[in-house]
Amino acid sequence: METLPNHNKLLTYRALQCAAAELGVNVSDLQIASVSGGFSRNRRALVSAGDRTIFVKEVDVDLLPDAGERELAWLKKDYGVTQLLQKLHPQYVADWTKLAGDGYVLMTTSYASADGWLWQPSAEKFVAKRYISAVVAATRELENTQLADEVIEELQLQPFTTAELGLDDGIDRVIAEADIRRQLIDNYRTLLPEQSEVNQQRCQKIIRLLSERDKLADISAHAKQFAKQPENCFDHSDVRSDNLAFQPQTGELKLVDWNWASYAPRGSGATEFLIDMARHGQDVTPWLDELNAEMLAAFVGFYLIRSLKPPLQPGDNLRQMQALSAATAYDLLERT
Ligand SMILES: Nc1ncnc2c1ncn2[C@@H]1O[C@H](COP(=O)(O)OP(=O)(O)O)[C@@H](O)[C@H]1O
Ligand SMILES: [Mg+2]
Repeated sequence: METLPNHNKLLTYRALQCAAAELGVNVSDLQIASVSGGFSRNRRALVSAGDRTIFVKEVDVDLLPDAGERELAWLKKDYGVTQLLQKLHPQYVADWTKLAGDGYVLMTTSYASADGWLWQPSAEKFVAKRYISAVVAATRELENTQLADEVIEELQLQPFTTAELGLDDGIDRVIAEADIRRQLIDNYRTLLPEQSEVNQQRCQKIIRLLSERDKLADISAHAKQFAKQPENCFDHSDVRSDNLAFQPQTGELKLVDWNWASYAPRGSGATEFLIDMARHGQDVTPWLDELNAEMLAAFVGFYLIRSLKPPLQPGDNLRQMQALSAATAYDLLERT
């Protein structure tokens, strides 16, 4: 390992051995490249030998506070769901995937930016429009996936969205506690100057909302309706641009990171994705009909209260992202 100083930053020797075995070469013949994005604490890289490249993701317990049970279960679920979808919706998942190294190493087909795959909306308007359309259409098609109860149980696809979101007490705490409202207003004022113009307007709008009791009560009531919606639609449940690759030349779309997949209310995937797109400055006007308004209402309080938590790691922008997501969800809610 000491002879591979650059390699062991991205992947451990265990993952390199798995990749070398898969590619039929020695570990010393591997070329390793970093990838952008990702929010988990797993290691990941693109690994090449000759003209073949694969994507490798690895659970390294040295990077985790525990023995990695949660991450290992996520990797296993990601693998299991991808395999299932290779039969049902092959166009939306990696063509090839393999769990190796005692379940610590997941290998999949590479969809690298170097080969033209987009891991964020394109700066070109018409490409971004095709990209958003493709993702929304995919979430709609995936919703109709019917699975036997045994499969749902085995892959842990049981619903959790309405309980987690619709029954979240965030909005009611915001209504009940003046201190929380003051803190949120302060945060938005701090955040505001660094934002794009459209996000500045959203921050101002939610600052106004925070002193309007009746409107907050409306949102709370609306969010509680979300908890009553049937959760009968298959959903990726983490549809964001860093979890999907789009090939603008061919229109192909691949979703990765299936560890949150579950049954959820109709429109959940599209709604989550359109919040992400709007926050990134994309105009989502053509897809307003796709939004689940009750889910948007539920997101407002859910993200507001989480944005007040301390950062996960010093300097990360998770809490800012949550504050902007709350403001974006509110803005979209007003437009439905
Ligand atoms: N099959 C793949 N080919 C190329 N790059 C990938 C692939 N899968 C993921 N990536 C890159 O790695 C990043 C994180 O991958 P992901 O599986 O979402 O990890 P995490 O669980 O940390 O979110 C993605 O945003 C993308 O940039
Ligand atoms: Mg991810």
